[in-house]
Amino acid sequence: ILNKEVTRDEKLFAICELLADNVDTFDWVGFYMADPEGKKELVLGPFVGPATDHKRIPFGRGICGQVAESHETFVSQDVKSEENYLSCSVSVQSEIVVPIMKGEEFVAQLDIDSNTKGSITDEQQKLLEEICEKLSREF
Ligand code: SME
Repeated sequence: ILNKEVTRDEKLFAICELLADNVDTFDWVGFYMADPEGKKELVLGPFVGPATDHKRIPFGRGICGQVAESHETFVSQDVKSEENYLSCSVSVQSEIVVPIMKGEEFVAQLDIDSNTKGSITDEQQKLLEEICEKLSREF
């Protein structure tokens, strides 16, 4: 059991479960990957929460697509006020997207939706950024 190889997707899914199960206001937790063939698109990876139509997102579109270009964490405490936003569900009120960087290269992102307005705290942002920094070595 100690030598069981765990795939990257299994690890990412476990992180989604851990976050979704332990933070009341995290209602959708998932990863988007940079397209492995180098197309400027995000590809949906492991997630926990309702299914989403956004399985591929062009860089630049929505909050996720903006983070794929800026390489900076994006916090929206009120997604209804965003001009460049892709809605997955009408119940979502706030969202945080944290990039995963491999050196200078953007490789993936962690996306969390909350059905509570203004729910993303500085502590949550810090924790999620630490997780994403550690995950860099998986890519
Ligand atoms: N709301 C995101 C799209 C992804 S879904 O939330 C899962 C966005 O604006 O990019």
